[in-house]
Amino acid sequence: MCWGLRNRLSHIIKEDGHTVMLAVDHGYFLGPTTGLEVPGKTIEPLLPHADSLMLTRGVLRTSVDPVAPIPIVLRVSGGNSIIGKELSDEDITVSFEDAIRLNVSAVALSIYIGSEYEHRTIVNLSRLVDEGEKYGIPVLAVTAVGREMARDAKYLGLCCRIAAEMGAHFVKTYYCEDFEKVVESCPVPLVIAGGKKIPEKDALKLAFDVVNHGAVGVDMGRNIFQSENPVAMIRAVRAIVHEKASVDDAYELYKGFKRE
Ligand code: R5P
Repeated sequence: MCWGLRNRLSHIIKEDGHTVMLAVDHGYFLGPTTGLEVPGKTIEPLLPHADSLMLTRGVLRTSVDPVAPIPIVLRVSGGNSIIGKELSDEDITVSFEDAIRLNVSAVALSIYIGSEYEHRTIVNLSRLVDEGEKYGIPVLAVTAVGREMARDAKYLGLCCRIAAEMGAHFVKTYYCEDFEKVVESCPVPLVIAGGKKIPEKDALKLAFDVVNHGAVGVDMGRNIFQSENPVAMIRAVRAIVHEKASVDDAYELYKGFKRE
């Protein structure tokens, strides 16, 4: 791995080998998601507590202070919508030149294994990796799950392994039973999405389980910004991911932080 690529990856996955990425890219196919109606308002208080911010260039340009010291993971795939015919109908939507102009630490693209446009999304991942290698920018493959797909170790293991084989530098997936098997068979670091909003203590348990079963951390969105107290929630997630806090201790922390 070239120096620039390793350097950029180290902005995201910290010295302790772990990371708390904040995902706020939902609008690219969901529109104004609950909690992200005014992205800048949601993002600003969370920034000091996130290791990186995953978002689209539109929200980056309009809603994030360019001098904020936050590594950016730029979503560069899209072209679909929640009301469209086929979720997997995605393509690359941002040029590498623009990603470089935006000084990103990584780019992210979804692959849809087992869906109609599987082939295109996998080939796009490989093309992006070629570009990433050329300029020293890591590529995050997001293993997107089609509406009918089971989120089990067999399926997620298949998605993560294909992503790694195509050259992704790190992979985002979902937690599942027998998650160690997914980790074992994927030779690059894994981060986990939080999924739909669940009670805070359950989301903290999810963060605990993922790091204790081999993921390097979380790339969490709704369970942070849709929480009753988003700042307290991201701080509690950090305590688990970076400070090895127990679920009970992190939940106590969550309850103890006043709403900012
Ligand atoms: C998925 O395609 C996007 O990257 C989402 O923004 C991300 O997976 C969502 O994070 P969460 O499930 O924690 O809201």
